[in-house]
Amino acid sequence: MDYKNILFECKNAIAYITINRSKQLNALNAETIAELSSAITLAENDKSIKCMIITGAEDKAFVAGADIKEFANYSKKEGENLARKGQESLFDLLENCGTPSIAAINGFALGGGLELAMACHIRIASENAKMGLPEVSLGVIPGYGGTQRLANLVGKGKAMEMITTAGMILAADAKSWGLVNYFCTQEKLIPLAEKIASKIIRNSPSAIAKAIKAVNAGFEEGINGFEVEKKEFGNCFESEEFKEGTNAFLEKRKANF
Ligand code: CAA
Repeated sequence: MDYKNILFECKNAIAYITINRSKQLNALNAETIAELSSAITLAENDKSIKCMIITGAEDKAFVAGADIKEFANYSKKEGENLARKGQESLFDLLENCGTPSIAAINGFALGGGLELAMACHIRIASENAKMGLPEVSLGVIPGYGGTQRLANLVGKGKAMEMITTAGMILAADAKSWGLVNYFCTQEKLIPLAEKIASKIIRNSPSAIAKAIKAVNAGFEEGINGFEVEKKEFGNCFESEEFKEGTNAFLEKRKANF
């Protein structure tokens, strides 16, 4: 597949998705959102891909937000559509994707950029990363799920502070607040993402997809996560991967998923 705004490469069961608009600090315009959505769908449907690493091109930005130039003259209806279409086509898709994703935050992750990282299943950051939701400084609010996902990750109080001050936090604070799992030097960022991915890809992809579904269910209004867990636990028992995983354990060998 040919993309204009992203790079898509697969190696050793990992899809590397790089947002590649470095002149605009990898800002998300509509075309980039559509390409990301297509790449994620492709990765989810390709059984040879077991994990995704999402990062930004060059060393300054992961993603500096939604493309401000694109929505500067939008009406109320167009604004709501931008948020709705973006959330449904990309951010919700990514969060609910059965193939796990790791955001490798290599620089500024602001607004839609931090929202993209927060829709990934795991986040790691380089020491130069700066993270924030500065939308209120532009007279808008986070529109790609930031008001909800940030509060889920760091708690309501810290989310309120980050959103109302429009400030940026550094990697060490992001780690202590639970926004990222690890931070490291920029050179070690992709190797660290690969190390985490290498642990993921040994495991049963179908069990991982079900586990993601069950964890996410607990954050959905009106859905009982425990019930989803029970159902998905049961569903595992009719998968070939369950047979392989348990047989491998009993035969004292490594499972081959
Ligand atoms: N949209 C469009 N273009 C952007 C952009 C964005 N979000 N962020 C940076 N750029 C562009 C700049 O306009 C500039 O382009 P030109 O050279 O053509 O002028 C280029 O990228 C380089 O940026 P700067 O010159 O500003 O670089 P800097 O080092 O001085 O500052 C920065 C870096 C602090 C990240 C600054 O670029 C910045 O504040 N960017 C905007 C961050 C922001 O407000 N993000 C939230 C967007 S709104 C949103 O995301 C809504 C939503 O939730 C749906």
